Amino acid sequence: MKNLDNITPIIKIKDLRKSFEDNHVLNGFSMELYQGENLVIMGKSGSGKSVMIKCLVGLMQADSGNIEIMEKDISKLDQKELNSLRTEIGFLFQGSALYDSMTVRENLKFPLRKSKKDPVETEKLVFEALKSVGLTKAIDLMPNELSGGMKRRVALARAIILHPKIIIYDEPTTGLDPITAKEIIELMRNIQKTYGASSLIITHDVDCARVIANRMILLIDGINYAEGTFKELSSSKDKNIQAFFK
Ligand SMILES: Nc1ncnc2c1ncn2[C@@H]1O[C@H](COP(=O)(O)OP(=O)(O)O)[C@@H](O)[C@H]1O
Ligand SMILES: [Mg+2]
Repeated sequence: MKNLDNITPIIKIKDLRKSFEDNHVLNGFSMELYQGENLVIMGKSGSGKSVMIKCLVGLMQADSGNIEIMEKDISKLDQKELNSLRTEIGFLFQGSALYDSMTVRENLKFPLRKSKKDPVETEKLVFEALKSVGLTKAIDLMPNELSGGMKRRVALARAIILHPKIIIYDEPTTGLDPITAKEIIELMRNIQKTYGASSLIITHDVDCARVIANRMILLIDGINYAEGTFKELSSSKDKNIQAFFK
């Protein structure tokens, strides 16, 4: 890995803490995401991965800690600045999270509702995003007419429709059969190549991590317990780390 000391991270989280009453979920979690990398965060189910992401994108308030996105301290931004920053971030929610009462086209338009794009441009973006996940034929279908893999593709298209600088994936392969999971990972890699975004991938899927991670962080007991490449971590002698790779 090249020396990153002089490069400013695109996301910087420092000492993040979050508890729900006496359930201490995050106990000083820190991480940095660098330009163009695929950073995988692995943690057991219930370890606080989604909580961490929700704090990061402002859907949840952390108890303490510092979050900078593109060199901006998000706690110091007003709503307008936050909204503008959010347009730079694509988010693939856990379990796809499509709106069931909207067609694929309407689901994709949803992130565009606040941008002042004209209808022709909007349609173009919708089509282009669907094309990049190979699903233009599904444009007028409802989510309940789609398979799990297709839903995930639509969610992926929605995440990238505004050509974000940062893409956050929360469990992109969870709940999919192994072949469909592989297809989604391949799409993520293609999207990475096409758009050059920096990606934060939350997963407990070892195969997904092996294929996509440039670097990994293990979230254990609410902290960034270990950090390294897949190879480094998977050959670690530490029992807590080994448990992930069995
Ligand atoms: N809104 C909430 N209120 C209370 N507890 C919550 C809330 N959201 C998450 N938690 C708790 O925080 C812990 C971590 O949850 P989560 O981040 O969803 O785990 P995962 O790593 O599987 O994504 C769990 O114990 C969960 O019950
Ligand atoms: Mg989760």
